[in-house]
Amino acid sequence: MELGEIKRLKGVRKVTVLTAYDAQTAKIMDTAGIDMILVGDSLGMVVLGYEDTKQVTMEDMIRHTEAVARGAPHTHIIGDLPINSYDTVEDALRNARRLLEAGAHSVKLEGNKPEVVRALVNEGIPVMGHLGLLPQTAEVMKVRGKKRSEAERILADAKELEELGVFSVVLECIPLNLAKQVTQAIGVLTIGIGAGVHCDGQVLVVNDMLGMDEGYSPKHSKIYANLNDVIGEAIRTYIEEVKAGKFPKDKHSFH
Ligand code: KIV
Repeated sequence: MELGEIKRLKGVRKVTVLTAYDAQTAKIMDTAGIDMILVGDSLGMVVLGYEDTKQVTMEDMIRHTEAVARGAPHTHIIGDLPINSYDTVEDALRNARRLLEAGAHSVKLEGNKPEVVRALVNEGIPVMGHLGLLPQTAEVMKVRGKKRSEAERILADAKELEELGVFSVVLECIPLNLAKQVTQAIGVLTIGIGAGVHCDGQVLVVNDMLGMDEGYSPKHSKIYANLNDVIGEAIRTYIEEVKAGKFPKDKHSFH
């Protein structure tokens, strides 16, 4: 779906977004009809095994954006600008263009950085904002916007991001009533993760919703498939069969 069509979904139906980092998963999402795929810097944790997103580089993001773009030719792809890649307007422009060249159709960045967002939008680069919990700079991973002053800041930032020309704002881990207020106050799509049902759409980290990490299920996510068990069981069976000489059989062999 074209970005113009996706933008017009506000108030019509909920928008569906998932993260993806590789071609095969992206292809499944493309075929299933997801509205947008975010190549999130959460790949730092779920693909690269880091503690957080703070070590993710532009090279990481480019490689995985290219993979997702190869797998999902019909889906709008958002490339996440990693930490320190948009510290200046020049950095932001250069790195956003690199993500577009890698196959992204838009970029996402955390927080309200008016000069950077204005410059990207002026260059015709579609920008998705990200407010609430900002993992690239957060010292503590907790809900934001519970305090009145914090909630007012998030609302004001969302309005400013809309004025600057973003096409959407991710709201991460904020109370659902605040997300409702923001969603009603701005004309662009709000995409929630841990922000309740009132957002215009939802995004989840695909590894979380597929139950890839045994014992890890953040409150805001839902396990739609328990792949940790499915994959673990398949691998245990393979190990047993190879050890017992049950695999490969004649039909798996060449004569
Ligand atoms: O990197 C990511 O997966 C994200 C989502 C949490 C929105 O930014």
